[in-house]
Amino acid sequence: MTKNNSMSLVDLDEGGVHHAFRSDVLEGLSQRQKAVPARWLYDDAGSELFEDITKVPEYYPTRAERSILEERGAEFRELIGPDRAVVEFGSGSSLKTPLLLSAIDPAAYVPLDIAGDFLRASAAELQAKFPDLAVYPIEADFMRRVELPTAVADMAKLGFFPGSTIGNMVARTAVDLLRSMRETLGDGSQLLIGMDLIKDPAVLEAAYDDAAGVTAEFNLNLARRINRELDGTIPVEALHHEARWEDIFARVEMHLVADRDIEFEVCDQTFRMAKGESIHTENSHKFDERSSTMLLLAGGWTPVKRWLDAEERFSLILADASEPRNAP
Ligand code: AVI
Repeated sequence: MTKNNSMSLVDLDEGGVHHAFRSDVLEGLSQRQKAVPARWLYDDAGSELFEDITKVPEYYPTRAERSILEERGAEFRELIGPDRAVVEFGSGSSLKTPLLLSAIDPAAYVPLDIAGDFLRASAAELQAKFPDLAVYPIEADFMRRVELPTAVADMAKLGFFPGSTIGNMVARTAVDLLRSMRETLGDGSQLLIGMDLIKDPAVLEAAYDDAAGVTAEFNLNLARRINRELDGTIPVEALHHEARWEDIFARVEMHLVADRDIEFEVCDQTFRMAKGESIHTENSHKFDERSSTMLLLAGGWTPVKRWLDAEERFSLILADASEPRNAP
């Protein structure tokens, strides 16, 4: 999932209003449990706030995953080998991607992202760090099968999807994405994917409700964005951020909860929230070995190796594209 906002592949109307944003918000606020898809958290302000989240002490996933990438380079090289085309789903992190590329020495790097400007800027940054590497940024929605450049057609592929972004999708969407990745990458490909682990709910809730209030700002920014971009009158000061561990779904949910009864308008439609009612804004699913295995298998990938950080908070999993096979 992109962490940056781009309008380039998305419909705009004359006023510059994002059609998809408007319909998602109007539809979502009309549901019994109000909900807005998490991808709308990432406008420019939201993307910057997410960067800040990765630095707060309670939010361990970024540091934990980076430590695996730092420590396991030799094993990556052994199991993945050199000369693959690394296809990254998302623009790439300036810290994590170079660690992988230095470890395995690939023949090409193909970042895929819907946010064209951000994609090109981060690809250029990476090219500067690896001047001999062939870099082919592709502006595309990777939730669907993507046509890769012909230059990498004959290379074995490694998909890279760090950050546990897969956890922001419900199971059905996650399986659809894994299957699209399988189609994009083809037979004989591998996937290196980050998946955050189930752990003490207090640790998880703190990671999504840091003491400095950065995650709260990230969540409240969605209400501000609705007001800014969709003529909204949401009284943001009457909402507060909540992170809730929902054990049955093994996920942290983010909500914006009303402190009092409120009424507001968005695009000329009126909405009401009773005190205590919420807008559900994000899911962040967590995994154990069995659930991550099940999800990957359902998506057409067979796990071959699983690494954890020293504190066993986060997993990075290497999987092979499954061969079609008959039962059992
Ligand atoms: C992008 N994604 C993996 C983050 C997560 O941990 O689910 C988004 C996030 N939301 C609040 N904090 C971080």
